[in-house]
Amino acid sequence: MCGIVGIVSNRPVSARLVEGLTRLEYRGYDSAGIAVVNGQGIVRRRAPGKIINLQHELDDAPIDGTCGIAHTRWATHGRPNMENAHPHRAGNVAIVHNGIIENFKLLREELAQNGHVFATQTDSEVIAHLIQHYLDKGLDAEDAFMACVARLEGAYAVAALVGDTNQTVYAARHGSPLVVGFGEGEMFVGSDAFALAPFTKRVLYLEEGDSAVVSIDKVCVRDKTGTLVTRDIMTASISAVMAEKGNYRHFMEKEIHEQPEALARTMAAYIDPENDIPTLGKAAPLLAEADRLIAIACGTAYLAASVAKYWFEGLAGVHVETDIASEFRYRTPALPKNGAALFISQSGETADTLAAMRFCNQATMGTIGVLNAPESSIARETDAVMRTLAGPEIGVASTKAFTAQLAVLAMSALGTAHARGRLDDDQIKDHIKALSQLPELSQKALAVKSQCEEIAPMLAASKQTFFIGRGVYYPLALEGALKLKEVTYLPAEGYAAGELKHGPIALIEEGTPVVVIAPTDELMEKTISNVEEMAARGARVIAITDEAGAKHFTERASHTIVLPDMPGLTGPIVCAIPLQLLAYFTALKLGTNMDQPRNLAKSVTVE
Ligand code: M6R
Repeated sequence: MCGIVGIVSNRPVSARLVEGLTRLEYRGYDSAGIAVVNGQGIVRRRAPGKIINLQHELDDAPIDGTCGIAHTRWATHGRPNMENAHPHRAGNVAIVHNGIIENFKLLREELAQNGHVFATQTDSEVIAHLIQHYLDKGLDAEDAFMACVARLEGAYAVAALVGDTNQTVYAARHGSPLVVGFGEGEMFVGSDAFALAPFTKRVLYLEEGDSAVVSIDKVCVRDKTGTLVTRDIMTASISAVMAEKGNYRHFMEKEIHEQPEALARTMAAYIDPENDIPTLGKAAPLLAEADRLIAIACGTAYLAASVAKYWFEGLAGVHVETDIASEFRYRTPALPKNGAALFISQSGETADTLAAMRFCNQATMGTIGVLNAPESSIARETDAVMRTLAGPEIGVASTKAFTAQLAVLAMSALGTAHARGRLDDDQIKDHIKALSQLPELSQKALAVKSQCEEIAPMLAASKQTFFIGRGVYYPLALEGALKLKEVTYLPAEGYAAGELKHGPIALIEEGTPVVVIAPTDELMEKTISNVEEMAARGARVIAITDEAGAKHFTERASHTIVLPDMPGLTGPIVCAIPLQLLAYFTALKLGTNMDQPRNLAKSVTVE
């Protein structure tokens, strides 16, 4: 999940390389670096940590040239320090890499035997040495690059400078995205179109196995067989404007507050205004005709899939299997004969989700992407795209993307139930009427902000926090725990409320916070019993409920967060908001960087 930028131009490129990197910082922020061809050969500057550190390095010791590459790193192999920062050098070669080279140890041994000395613990450095090895054997720059790429196993997007004076960027992709941008008298390479948006919107997406030779006025693309190919140039719809925090302190805070608007936009895209029924586009027949559905995703998106399972099974009577993408792809899943697969992803680039989708495509299953990024790899390869219109989500913690995913999945379940005759027109209308209240309900849910801020110091001071729920609120409990741990680094566990007594209850001590998500539903009484079990063992209960449910917690909870009544399928969507606020304010109290938490990145393009 590193970010790559490359520029070949008739004017200096350093400042723009850094600008492009800044737009890719969401992909990783362990270190950053640039290399340019400057007349005296290839020179580079690197710095550990965020891009601002690289900028300081460049301010102290400027370098520039008209051809260069740049990188922001999310560490896989080797610690996130200066030594392991890209670009990596070997002789007259500099490279930047996103992905994992799986056969790097073998290549490294072979090159070491040929006298190559390695300076880093990374898998990536081997690429620079391998290109140099082929240059030493007498191959020209392009052939040396291609010979190297042919030997790489694993996932990669790579950009390279080859030769002291060569004004060319060599690029290749296999498993990690890469785009080529067309400017006026200059050309670009980037991990995504967003990185290139300030320079050009005319882009070409390299396909799997493609390599490209990018010079000042043209690009030559070869496919995986080495054949010259033409790829379509398209106009990216991405804005060049960087998302700003506005009046908010953090992107996470801003994005939590953007949910009423994001939900209104998303819902509007899925309601047929004439008939008040869900409109699911190309996904409709796939969902309506499938015997079984598989919903595959990672992290928070997986938890959205887990909520959707309850909806699809309960309303449409269709069996849904949920799968964590990284598990699905490495077993031999028994695929349904007449099934469809849903892939849920904010970025549309998550490597495991993308690979799972390709597996299902190959198996000729109908594939549907529920995606926030309309030009992402999954969007380009899936049979049907259902967009979440959350707008750009910059904070690493998924907030508005999660609730928008739930809104799309709710509409999908309803549309499927309607198409299968499980819900009639009137029932569908009632459901849509309820979901249409989401903007207003989520606005009201934001009003519990100050209460979440009051509770946060208690969570910040606790050894660990539990989140529990039943039914659709079980995946929500998992999401509450995930949100808290990723932005605060505090241990947190989510459980099905009925499961605690089968083991985890042993961890409850005097004062352990237990957040119970329990709006009024048919499982409320059961959940209350589980709360009793916790309270009897000294747990401090924080209840998230609705007005009717609040009375159950007056004696039992130290804090009761009361949300508005949540009709139909709105409950999990509205309940996500206090969970996000609890995580946000706890992180604020602890002073962690909740927008860029340690060790994480927004887009996970490695396995
Ligand atoms: O871009 P995706 O939705 O595919 O990302 C999946 C997960 O990496 C993501 O949801 C992650 O769990 C978030 N950081 C959680 O807040």
